[in-house]
Amino acid sequence: MKSITLDDIQAMEKLVRVQFASSLPGVKPVCLVGTENEDGLSNLAPFSSVVHLGSNPALLGMVTRPDTVERHTLSNIIQSGHYTLNHLHRGILEQGHQCSARYPHGVSEFEATGLTEAREGPFVFVAESRFRMGLKLVDRLPIEANGTQLIIGAVQLVQVAEAALSENGSIDLPGLGLISSTALDTYFESVEMARLPYAKPKEM
Ligand SMILES: Cc1cc2nc3c(=O)[nH]c(=O)nc-3n(C[C@H](O)[C@H](O)[C@H](O)COP(=O)(O)O)c2cc1C
Repeated sequence: MKSITLDDIQAMEKLVRVQFASSLPGVKPVCLVGTENEDGLSNLAPFSSVVHLGSNPALLGMVTRPDTVERHTLSNIIQSGHYTLNHLHRGILEQGHQCSARYPHGVSEFEATGLTEAREGPFVFVAESRFRMGLKLVDRLPIEANGTQLIIGAVQLVQVAEAALSENGSIDLPGLGLISSTALDTYFESVEMARLPYAKPKEM
């Protein structure tokens, strides 16, 4: 087992440190965040920091990088108060990944990648996504230790292929072909391995 200390991490070349640090949480979901700017121009960017923040009301958090450069997703969410999360599947993986390129202000990633916009009220969805949701911004917490921010959204609308939804509330993620990721370049397919009963303390 190799030990990697804080000093080792600090000494890494920047891109190596990004790759290493973003692998630490393991495999994570990856969604395209759909937004629009004040002129109604749409924007898409992959985010893999989406986390469940409780069910009543259903809240999701995601972390955005420091706003030391233009961050279209962040500024659009602040300005419009709404955004969408569109899960990726194999059929749109390359296009989804391409949305992480730094396109200039005035260029929509939909147009740049050929993905299709589906608008519904304040929401800009990806038509090709099989599992997507619309959220309303409810909080934004600065993480002072490194300048990132936690964006917190309340789920307003969920759209999912009907066959994937069970009566018990679970969603057949492998059936939807859902993709997850680690670091910023490695993607995984989902395979269900086990479904275990609610754990209770065992008699000793
Ligand atoms: C797989 C993957 C996951 C990413 N996850 C995040 C993330 O959680 N937070 C973030 O700020 N950027 C993340 N990025 C980087 C953004 O997608 C990238 O900075 C993008 O250019 C932002 O575009 P925008 O300026 O239109 O918001 C990720 C990129 C990839 C490829």
